[in-house]
Amino acid sequence: MTNYLKYKSIMNKIADVQYSSAVLNWDQETYMPPKGAAFRAQQLATLAGIAHELSTTEELGHLLISLSQDNSLSEKEKRNIKESLKKYNDNKKYTTSFVEELSKSISEAFQAWQEAKKTSNFSLYAPYLEKLVKLKREECKLLGYVEHPYDAMLNQYEPDAKTADLEVLFADVRNQLVAFVKKIAAKPQNNDSFMYLHFDKDKQWEFGVGLLKQMGYDFEAGRQDISSHPFTTNFNSEDVRVTTRTNENNLNEMIWSCIHEGGHALYEQGLPVSEYGLPSGEYISLGIHESQSRLWENNVGRSLPYWNTNFSSLQKIFPENFKNVSTEDFYKAMNIVKPSLIRTSADELTYHFHILIRFEIEKALIQGSIEVKDLPDYWNEKYKEYLGVEVPNDAQGVLQDIHWSHGSFGYFPTYSLGSFYAAQFFAQALKEIPELESEIEKGNTKPLLDWLREKVHIHGKYYTAAELCLFITGEKLNFNYFMAYATKKYSRLYHL
Ligand code: CO
Repeated sequence: MTNYLKYKSIMNKIADVQYSSAVLNWDQETYMPPKGAAFRAQQLATLAGIAHELSTTEELGHLLISLSQDNSLSEKEKRNIKESLKKYNDNKKYTTSFVEELSKSISEAFQAWQEAKKTSNFSLYAPYLEKLVKLKREECKLLGYVEHPYDAMLNQYEPDAKTADLEVLFADVRNQLVAFVKKIAAKPQNNDSFMYLHFDKDKQWEFGVGLLKQMGYDFEAGRQDISSHPFTTNFNSEDVRVTTRTNENNLNEMIWSCIHEGGHALYEQGLPVSEYGLPSGEYISLGIHESQSRLWENNVGRSLPYWNTNFSSLQKIFPENFKNVSTEDFYKAMNIVKPSLIRTSADELTYHFHILIRFEIEKALIQGSIEVKDLPDYWNEKYKEYLGVEVPNDAQGVLQDIHWSHGSFGYFPTYSLGSFYAAQFFAQALKEIPELESEIEKGNTKPLLDWLREKVHIHGKYYTAAELCLFITGEKLNFNYFMAYATKKYSRLYHL
């Protein structure tokens, strides 16, 4: 066996273990009975340990070093080795005791967060979060960074991203989006009351499945189930699962989670199955992953052409609720801009203020310029400043998101990156596929999916996020695309 084949076989084995954990995780979120929780946690911890051992063996290290000097490899193989070696070296930086301490602190913080959120009592959570932040600061040192300690956190989700670049990006958000949202707020608000009537859950489900099929989601290589927090998971590119949730009194939840998770799933289904377990078979970064979900959710799903083809079927399913509603009314309702308290239900413009606030807080926490005890006040001030809303309690404020209790610092910015990449990619798709909108208007999204497959999906991790953006659009990430999209769309919606 050649060294490269040996490498491939080890990577396959690691993937087998990790995807087996993913199946158990999926089951835990969907069907597992409550009493299954204790042993499930143990099973997942055991598999995580095995994967870590397989990923850090001396054998793999030697193999990767020797392959990294092998000039007979193809360009793609060389990229795989480079990527795997980087990951190997990062894995080696963690001592077993650190991993165990981190994992224990996360379990404790998560428990405390759940209780604190239920009772809206930040002080129950604060000591555990303090411990976790301390470990995260240590982790930054362990992983190493050149410019800013927060870079080390970011790079776990968005390789090569820099705090300094995000500061420039979010300065644009602040300077341009704040003023634009103020202009919208000065206009009369559109009506969306018909989205909150009674919608039968089974009928909603049926409609959502129809939307997924229309997007090109392959039900022979996936399935949809219900979970309290919608997500996408995959065990290989031929088994990519999505979940959704239905709320009888709010049609938004099902529609947007179906399209959003569908976008994530199309990316995973489009990764080359022959590259299983290798970087060339994996997604690039969370920002690029999110660009795929948001492109479908916002640029396609919240557009008029999309509902010109789909609204009549929705009307047929819910004739009473929509008897006096036009496609234009429906389009306006799904694009209401209104500053609010909760990130996950925010509109596509004010959403980025929620991220901006979290970015500023995380950066300050990680570099040590604020401490955990300052968080609620800091949070509430920022919400007043950027969104103009008073935070009534911590449950609806600093305690709303699960991320920090999971130790996920550096994750939030990838949501905004996703929207900005999506706007730039979609602008390019419109340029390269002149009939794109008229085809969407006929219910045909295949030209778009084919384009995304060719430009993004089939490459796996061959490009970095920055390289992919350059490859697709000829320039680096540029916030102006998002702003141009927003200006055009919302100027029409709000008669600016
Ligand atoms: Co997403």
